[in-house]
Amino acid sequence: MIRQSTASAPGKVILSGEHFVVHGSYSVAAAISKRVSVSIREIRGTKSQIVSTGVTSDLDSDDGRFPAVKTVARTILSEARKEAPRITFQISISSEIPPGSGLGSSSAVSVASAAALMDFLGLSWNKAEIANFALRGEKAVHGNPSGIDIQASLLGGMILFKKGQEPRSISVRDPFKVLVVYSGKKRSTSKLIVKVAQRKSKYPNTFQRLADSASEISLEIVEASRRSELHEIGKYFGLAQSQLAWIGVSNPTLETLIEYLYEREEVLGAKLTGAGGGGSVIAAIRQDSAEAVLKFMTGRYPYSFVSEIPQEGLRWKKRKN
Ligand code: PMV
Repeated sequence: MIRQSTASAPGKVILSGEHFVVHGSYSVAAAISKRVSVSIREIRGTKSQIVSTGVTSDLDSDDGRFPAVKTVARTILSEARKEAPRITFQISISSEIPPGSGLGSSSAVSVASAAALMDFLGLSWNKAEIANFALRGEKAVHGNPSGIDIQASLLGGMILFKKGQEPRSISVRDPFKVLVVYSGKKRSTSKLIVKVAQRKSKYPNTFQRLADSASEISLEIVEASRRSELHEIGKYFGLAQSQLAWIGVSNPTLETLIEYLYEREEVLGAKLTGAGGGGSVIAAIRQDSAEAVLKFMTGRYPYSFVSEIPQEGLRWKKRKN
């Protein structure tokens, strides 16, 4: 039988604290129902490959394709070289998350690739090691990430995250639905992180006050989520959005999308989620009218979906061979 390993990991939404988390604030993230699946199988030949949606790239080629997966795989192979069997393999990626949409596709692919490859090579691993390998992949794409995306994808559920601390899992009494709408505009997280750092150095005092308040909003959202108080969550989404606009990561595409959402009275509050500059918006909605709002939004924004949060994190199947 051919040696084969499979793992999948979810995308994520950030409910509060994006960008500020890079500067030490608390941030809240949750795994969503859209996932990335990675399978690895042994192949003939001398070059390992990565394949996704008809595009193939050799693992050792620097053609700019699949930077996250290549970094994860090369790091694992170089660090585990002595223990790892020398086998040629193909990594196949199948994703439900558009890249550059702010929904954590690069983290999900990094987490799933790290777990699948460790398993494929017969190496033992724990979650901390997967987080470490996956973060290297995320850095190859995003420059200076906080690590929140990786932890949300790996652990699943809802997490309260602060740089330098262990992420805290939040237990939510009744899982609830959120609406996620992709604006269709891709953007680069790393460029936005740099833009925010420039804003911080121009207005250090105001930025610090906003960062402190972002932490408070995160703690309020945790409390409201524990009790599934959608009205409260919606109110804080509105406040978070105005702060994100002030630090320069909203734009007319996102503001128009949010205004369009507010045409529906079932929408209790909305904000950009992730790095902004395009990407996606998350909305708190009345739970009994999720499908109606979704239908309204998909007319204009085809990649819209309702996700119940929280969701399961990393899943993997034990290797077959
Ligand atoms: O991966 P994105 O584009 O959803 O952004 C992640 C959130 C940021 O706070 C902007 C960056 C980070 O690593 O925390």
